[in-house]
Amino acid sequence: MTVISTEPSQVLAGRIADALNTSVVGVKFSRFPDGELYLCANGLDEEMVIVGSVVDSDSLVQLVLLIDTCEGLNNQLIIPYMGYARQDKRFKTGEPVSARAISRLLSTGVDRCITVNVHDRKVLSYFNIPASDVSLARDIGIYIKGLDLDDPLIIAPDDGAAAFARQVAATGTWDCDHLDKTRISGDEVRMAPRTLSAAGRPVVIVDDIISTGGTIASAAAMLRELGANDVFAACVHGVLTGGAFARLKAAGIKDIVCSDTIERGSSRYSAASRIAEVLAQ
Ligand code: R5P
Repeated sequence: MTVISTEPSQVLAGRIADALNTSVVGVKFSRFPDGELYLCANGLDEEMVIVGSVVDSDSLVQLVLLIDTCEGLNNQLIIPYMGYARQDKRFKTGEPVSARAISRLLSTGVDRCITVNVHDRKVLSYFNIPASDVSLARDIGIYIKGLDLDDPLIIAPDDGAAAFARQVAATGTWDCDHLDKTRISGDEVRMAPRTLSAAGRPVVIVDDIISTGGTIASAAAMLRELGANDVFAACVHGVLTGGAFARLKAAGIKDIVCSDTIERGSSRYSAASRIAEVLAQ
């Protein structure tokens, strides 16, 4: 089993290879003069683990090209961050089901697919191959333990993240609750107050994705109003668009961490162990 990856996922791919005690394939990435993407891999194996987060259009094309490079081999596909997954249904007439389109595209030439905290597990049914999802809740729990907080409260910023927050909280038998969120616009959300025992306690807000940071910033502001002490934020996928990290620091959040499903300066824990566990099964 050998690991190969797109450019944006090369660090995570190296960690997965280390966890599996195997090697990575060297790949040269470049462009044709007209801007089209090109790649050339050096030394494939019968069993390939193809790793690629869909973070933008180029990373998607690189992933499709890598899968084609590995044609005819036993290919397991890892999509650490699956972009487009949030458009998992037709919200209004005329829209695509983008998650389904991406799933179908990436099913060709692959035997099995593994995602990481995909936004909604129903997306797995869109693949034309066996697909499963791994959760990094335990790894966020390990990060929180390392903070050595006194009686922390784990908070999901909305109902959708409540189950994930409960998984995180279970790793340390911490208290857990969630907030009610209403999205006003693309980058603005409003929190309806809930009865929380946040007063005088450290709080860790957990979510699957931090994109613009609007959700977490609003949650942090509300928790402060409720008397919370230090506020921390932990997510799986640090999309961090539009200056989100700085926005959250400016909002007074003490620490903001994400995994390496999207490779960032704030990637302070890795998805590699959980992915390797599933691959080794
Ligand atoms: C939404 O359903 C997700 O779980 C996240 O809460 C959302 O993507 C965060 O977006 P933002 O950081 O832009 O508020």
